[in-house]
Amino acid sequence: MKILIVGSGGREHALAWKIAQSPRAEKVYCAPGNGGTRLVAENVPLSETDIAGLADFAEREKIGLTVVGPEIPLTMGIADEFERRKLRIFGPSKKAAEIEASKVFAKQFMERHRIPTGRFKVADNFDQAKKILASGEFGFPVVLKADGLAAGKGVVVCPTQKKAEDTVGEMLVQKKFGPAGRRIVIEEFLRGREVSFIVISDGMRAQPLVTAKDHKAAYDGDKGPNTGGMGAVSPSPLMTEKLFNDVMTTVIAPAVTRLLEEGRKFKGVLYAGLMITEEGPRVLEFNARFGDPETQPQMLRLESDLVELLTAAVEEDVLRNDVRWSAKPSGCVVVVSGGYPVHYEKGKIVSGLAEAVPGVTVFHAGTKFENDTYVTTGGRVLGVCASEENLAETMGKIYDACGRIYFEAMHYRRDIGAVKEERT
Ligand code: AMP
Ligand code: GLY
Repeated sequence: MKILIVGSGGREHALAWKIAQSPRAEKVYCAPGNGGTRLVAENVPLSETDIAGLADFAEREKIGLTVVGPEIPLTMGIADEFERRKLRIFGPSKKAAEIEASKVFAKQFMERHRIPTGRFKVADNFDQAKKILASGEFGFPVVLKADGLAAGKGVVVCPTQKKAEDTVGEMLVQKKFGPAGRRIVIEEFLRGREVSFIVISDGMRAQPLVTAKDHKAAYDGDKGPNTGGMGAVSPSPLMTEKLFNDVMTTVIAPAVTRLLEEGRKFKGVLYAGLMITEEGPRVLEFNARFGDPETQPQMLRLESDLVELLTAAVEEDVLRNDVRWSAKPSGCVVVVSGGYPVHYEKGKIVSGLAEAVPGVTVFHAGTKFENDTYVTTGGRVLGVCASEENLAETMGKIYDACGRIYFEAMHYRRDIGAVKEERT
């Protein structure tokens, strides 16, 4: 069958790479793709937000399965449009994707169904927010979250009342996030360590993927601003069998079931960002899609056929086959443009990709192929990945490969996969 992948990041390159290995994939397309996806798929010059254009393409090319990477097309209703046209698509409907698109909805949904999450209140004007902050009920630090999608920038941890009031002003008065910040969530600050818990849901049941740990801060030692993700390892070093069962029972199963009951059948990837606190796991957020970079190390460990797994979810029988994973750990170091996530330059020539280290897979996140060279097009540029007997060997290989890659002002963290201190 012909398969179309929507998106242009490292996640989509990793999905295309894995899908291209499937005996069921006769031809793989990626829209719009990047400099790396062209190695495993045919890039199609259609934007991920051009829903009608993508559906027309799928009709014309008789695409048997479309797989959506990013959240934007999902929250625009790409799955609804494809289903309306009887095109098979892997990804939740607009209503189901609201679990990611609206933090107010997600928090109230969790409260309604007693899914463990931080205490919170919702505010839609400055005075109301100020009153909540002044009441001291959440103490400080406190976490402020814009309701809607804000490209990962809508969450601000505020150490003091002053900072919190300033941030509320930016969100609710200056409208820094536009309509995404019309309402905000004021949430208690949770202490613990973070785990990404990602499953594939068919609307009724969930097939867990191997766990992963994301490293979000821009600089070593978890310093600097939050980014989309600077690297990841799988499995998460924090995962235990007990915690796994706990999360499946108290978070994933109720989320999938209650969404179904509320008329928001969730078919796609349900990603729970968790804080593991002393009292147990708490949901920080839900995403309605694969993680990036988490997907990259996860795909390296997946031994089963990804096309079969995604098809099983679309056909509402996601548990019909066992999913096999390599027991070896895997890792990914994201090489970014200097200054990311704030100000950075694009258009730099990337060298050293040909000097590949055996066993290392490089997924492209922000490149294009032009005049026989790779040129940077974004903040996150490459995901350098490997999977070896143990994590030390895995990271050694990855860093060896990173050392051979060069572009002007490139940056990557040197401590991905290192054992982390407790967050305080
Ligand atoms: P989110 O987009 O909701 O996952 O938030 C982004 C990041 O902010 C998370 O990965 C956490 O590091 C941090 N964060 C979000 N909510 C909280 C919270 N209630 N307590 C502490 N940190 C948080
Ligand atoms: N790496 C975080 C995310 O995909 O949301």
